[in-house]
Amino acid sequence: MKNLLKKVAIIASLGIISLVNASESFMFQDGVLTSNDGKIAKLFVGVPVSVKKDMDKKAEVTIKGFRFDDNNIYSSEGKELIIATIDSDFKVTKKANNEVELNGIIDKEFLTAISAEPWEEHEEFYFEMCTQCHAAPKVGHHSMMEWSAIFDTMKGFAKLDVEESSYLIRYLKSNAKDGLIKVEH
Ligand code: HEC
Repeated sequence: MKNLLKKVAIIASLGIISLVNASESFMFQDGVLTSNDGKIAKLFVGVPVSVKKDMDKKAEVTIKGFRFDDNNIYSSEGKELIIATIDSDFKVTKKANNEVELNGIIDKEFLTAISAEPWEEHEEFYFEMCTQCHAAPKVGHHSMMEWSAIFDTMKGFAKLDVEESSYLIRYLKSNAKDGLIKVEH
């Protein structure tokens, strides 16, 4: 019950309930997408996923991103944020320019319909580490590029190790002004 209330509160506070499409989901945590021919793509936490077909415990999904000359899929052409890494023989669907789509099957336990839910622990860690000297800056007020620059100094101030740094910068960039874009229909 407590959990349910929390989720309702999150949806209400985002004020996006009317925009949430049933087929729009988000990676609840890092997870694995398997293509029809058995190749693997690793998807990162928070990435928007479009559900094409619900298959009980699994779902057929599409992920949009940008690919250049390596096996990373980025959230934008600016290559600031890697949203997936693919097997070198994973067949992506090419769209305009460098835009691609990844199609495959995923366990539904990796998905949530609530975009803020995957970030609850990151957010706690952010408030813990980044409010010792000043109030927590609004994450969405900065672009991914700004966060890269600011974080370079602040990770030292907060004495973060390599693992903590990559955990936190993923949260900051994903939720930046130009971070993970919601799935459009
Ligand atoms: C040890 C104290 C300290 C800690 C811990 C700290 N900061 Fe700061 N932060 C500062 C100071 C001092 C400034 C202002 C001077 C500057 O910009 O370098 C600042 C400025 C900022 C700014 C504004 C920069 C700008 O140009 O607008 C942001 C954003 C920020 N910090 C984010 C963070 C984040 C994220 C963390 C956690 C990883 C963090 N800070 C941890 C001391 C700290």
